[in-house]
Amino acid sequence: MAKEIKTIGVLTSGGDAPGMNAAIRAVVRTALARGKQVRGIMKGYQGLLNEEIEDMEKMGVSSIIQRGGTILGTARSMEFKTEEGQKKGADICRKHGIDGLVVIGGDGSFRGAQRLANLGINTIGIPGTIDLDIACTDYTIGFDTAVNTAMQAIDKVRDTSTSHERCSIIEVMGRHAGYIALWCGIANGAEDILLPERYDNDEQALINNIIRNRKNGKKHHIIINAEGIGHSASMARRIEAATGVETRATILGHIQRGGSPTCKDRVYASIMGSYAVDLLCEGKSKRIVAYAGGKYVDFDINEALAMKKDISEYQFNVSKILGR
Ligand code: ADP
Ligand code: F6P
Repeated sequence: MAKEIKTIGVLTSGGDAPGMNAAIRAVVRTALARGKQVRGIMKGYQGLLNEEIEDMEKMGVSSIIQRGGTILGTARSMEFKTEEGQKKGADICRKHGIDGLVVIGGDGSFRGAQRLANLGINTIGIPGTIDLDIACTDYTIGFDTAVNTAMQAIDKVRDTSTSHERCSIIEVMGRHAGYIALWCGIANGAEDILLPERYDNDEQALINNIIRNRKNGKKHHIIINAEGIGHSASMARRIEAATGVETRATILGHIQRGGSPTCKDRVYASIMGSYAVDLLCEGKSKRIVAYAGGKYVDFDINEALAMKKDISEYQFNVSKILGR
């Protein structure tokens, strides 16, 4: 029989994502409702190593569900990537009586949680990243808000692009993952979508598409380019020179990571936060909360991290057919 959890810690780590606050609120309020104490760890694993740890109460998470970012702050910690750092982190958890830890973040943060679990700290991961690049889950906190923010911005760029009969290259976030680019590409009716997982650097194909569309009377040409491919400004110069079509680059950047979370992000994050606490209360550890096959489920952290996520070939083909 696993020892009963008395104190639950919660931290956010890696890139922030809209909806993280809703998850924190759910962790705090569910844990308190189950009679547990809650400690908030500031600035991810770096804050853990610096012992930036505070007690959390019900009212401390009041009026945060609608706020973007994370009230706990987040960071990337090199020190925690070392074995020494991880041992220090586990010792600090023990020192502060944290016998269960909820980690809200992406793959990297889950690797940290895996290490802590191996050192005897009960850990549960909640997928929080705008990139949607966690293989075991169909949903990650923040993706819905990020794609809606990007979609609205791209609509605006398209208005001016059409008026001037230009080509617009719009760069969206996603260093390794093209989900934001793919979803915006479909939602904004882009003519071309460049994904880190698929782009073959065939710029001539883009040039040919622009020339063909011009001949067919199209007044705009939207290319959604993922951050992982980047170089939007130089690409724009080359495309303009080759096609004679005025071309501009717009980099949407971090506006995609901020802002008030959508209803979906608030609700899914709330349920995942409660689910994580329930797992700890049931004596479970080393699990990742996920939404898969239309249900909230959980996976062993080792299995979850071994899974590979790829872009759906079918969805990518649909985007190409619709953009022609
Ligand atoms: P994300 O969680 O969004 O993928 P990162 O990859 O930046 O973001 O990871 C966040 C933090 O998690 C890192 O700064 C580091 O402290 C910790 N982390 C990442 N990878 C590992 C690892 N292999 N072992 C231990 N900790 C890790
Ligand atoms: O949080 C995910 C993400 O926004 C990626 O899409 C992006 O590549 C990365 O974080 C950028 O992180 P930062 O600007 O914080 O270094």
